[in-house]
Amino acid sequence: MSFTRRQILAGLAGLGVVGLGAGGARYWLGRPAAVTTHDYELIAAPLDVELVPGHSTPAWAYGGQAPGLELRGRQGGWLRVRFINRLPEPTTIHWHGIRLPLEMDGVPYVSQLPVLPGEFFDYHFQLKDAGSFWYHPHTASGEQLGRGLVGPLIVEEREPSGFRHERTLSLKSWHVDKQGVFTAFSVPREAARGGTPGVLSTVNGQHLPALDLPAGQIVRLRILNLDNTLTYRLNLSQGEARIYALDGNPVTPRPLGKEYWLGPGMRIELALRVPAAGQELMLRNGPLRLATLRSAPAGEAAGDWPPALPANPIAEPDLQRAETLRFNFEWVGALSTALEQGGAHTFWQINGQAWDINDKSCAARPIATLKRNGHYIFELRNLSQYQHPIHLHGMTFKVLASNRRKIDPWFTDTYLLGKNETARIALVADNPGVWMFHCHVIDHMETGLMAAIEVV
Ligand code: C2O
Ligand code: CU
Ligand code: CU
Repeated sequence: MSFTRRQILAGLAGLGVVGLGAGGARYWLGRPAAVTTHDYELIAAPLDVELVPGHSTPAWAYGGQAPGLELRGRQGGWLRVRFINRLPEPTTIHWHGIRLPLEMDGVPYVSQLPVLPGEFFDYHFQLKDAGSFWYHPHTASGEQLGRGLVGPLIVEEREPSGFRHERTLSLKSWHVDKQGVFTAFSVPREAARGGTPGVLSTVNGQHLPALDLPAGQIVRLRILNLDNTLTYRLNLSQGEARIYALDGNPVTPRPLGKEYWLGPGMRIELALRVPAAGQELMLRNGPLRLATLRSAPAGEAAGDWPPALPANPIAEPDLQRAETLRFNFEWVGALSTALEQGGAHTFWQINGQAWDINDKSCAARPIATLKRNGHYIFELRNLSQYQHPIHLHGMTFKVLASNRRKIDPWFTDTYLLGKNETARIALVADNPGVWMFHCHVIDHMETGLMAAIEVV
């Protein structure tokens, strides 16, 4: 399978290309336009934000905010977003963790052509799973996500869950200096190590915010790591919190414990019992404060722990008949010759192959081909000294085992593979297409740690 421009256009023609610009170089995929055809009109555009008091930062925003507007839908329903690009460069939207058809997946030259400045693209897909998801571009990711193009996508359960209160907390640490000026989103020396970190932590776009929560109530906290690089070692200074879901899939409720390592792209849903009015607790990354949670009078009888959330309809892999595939994640360290020719750095490989973000044909050479509806076990081996949040598009997988820790299996779209860890995950290849399989440390992904897995 190859994804040349010509073939993509042929594919688009089959779906109905409604707009051809005068120069013939402007295309978009559209539907007969009436506003009733979409639920959201989402604009990506530059926006000055005040991250550092008294200074403005030239962010890029979705829906006039960075992180972006929270999109919501209901399980079983459709999400229809008319996406309008008012940025100075091409972009796309990828819906992280959502199981959808390939043509809605937002990967340039694989699912669609980039949406050029001034164009729009209608994304529409059914929401099979309830949970906390997010959206972001899949083009020039270091800069585009770094400037703020990241946003929550919340899919509510089909039937009301037992939670009466909830808050979304989007975590992002910005690459800015003390005047709010952007610093490099990727520094080669850092990309070759743990990734380039931002230094200004924010929750919902604010540094060290104080958030009011209703006293005595159980609040569902949806905590999303929308950061390019950082793994947050989440902990709460006090208060009783239980884990209800990980990365968009319910788990049997259990105590949060000492801390939870939330890698880039990952999400955790906690039920927090808010203490008596007037008390405070800290949400922290290791020892560092991220936000203060203040208990405010609620005027409501104390709540009780809701039951576990209902499972999502994900096919259960049959380990008896599953085929095992091995994936090695390696550090290469050498600068590629492409660099001297103006290409990208290559520091990372999967099974001896590095993805080249400048080569539009990489997806034509998938590193694995799965049979549709086949059952697979992936053995993920990290041969490096750095951790990698390994993410797969299009399908949800089950984490089975690790040589580093005890695993209570759960379904996810991203697994934080520790340094030198080997883990086993399993899935049913029930979604045909060419799916990106990559590390979600953005500058690892952009320096080789990405591949395509094909399901035919
Ligand atoms: Cu958040 Cu390719 O993914
Ligand atoms: Cu994704
Ligand atoms: Cu990585």
